[in-house]
Amino acid sequence: MKENKLTFKSAGVDETTRFGAKLGMLLSQGDVIALIGELGAGKTTLVKGIVRGLGVTDRRVVKSPTFSLVHKYKGRIPVYHFDAYRLEDGEEMLDIGSDEMIYGDGVALVEWADKVSGCLPEEYLKITLRAVSENERSIEICGYGKRYDKIMGNLI
Ligand SMILES: Nc1ncnc2c1ncn2[C@@H]1O[C@H](COP(=O)(O)OP(=O)(O)OP(=O)(O)O)[C@@H](O)[C@H]1O
Ligand SMILES: [Mg+2]
Repeated sequence: MKENKLTFKSAGVDETTRFGAKLGMLLSQGDVIALIGELGAGKTTLVKGIVRGLGVTDRRVVKSPTFSLVHKYKGRIPVYHFDAYRLEDGEEMLDIGSDEMIYGDGVALVEWADKVSGCLPEEYLKITLRAVSENERSIEICGYGKRYDKIMGNLI
């Protein structure tokens, strides 16, 4: 599949959140965001922004769902926030009904998506975060599938 790649730099938490909000505003039903990066890379921080951009007003609800695996937020469309950190593979993810959420009525955001790559659809947006220094992060965006071309075009 044709892939489309962009890299951004963030100088701090606020910039990552703002970038997420901009992305969140561009998302629509069926979009799937795979978030990849080490512990503390900024995946949940980015999710906070994305969720804001999707119209979820209560930002306090967004925390890492490490212990519950998935959180659902009410935005302009439903938002499903997964954290696969504790999973060995995609089986447990499928057991909780991830298919219905990923191929469903809203947007799916999946932290540690590399652990459950088998649960992802063929087309998704891959975001890889890397710590460059204490406060700097690189945010690499890779779109798999045509539906993400327009979103990426609007991010530049
Ligand atoms: N530019 C930045 N963008 C995002 N987070 C930053 C940035 N600079 C510093 N940080 C810090 O990095 C940490 C990111 O934590 P966050 O929970 O978002 O990471 P995570 O990738 O979700 O980690 P985990 O895998 O543990 O869930 C926070 O402590 C945050 O304050
Ligand atoms: Mg996290």
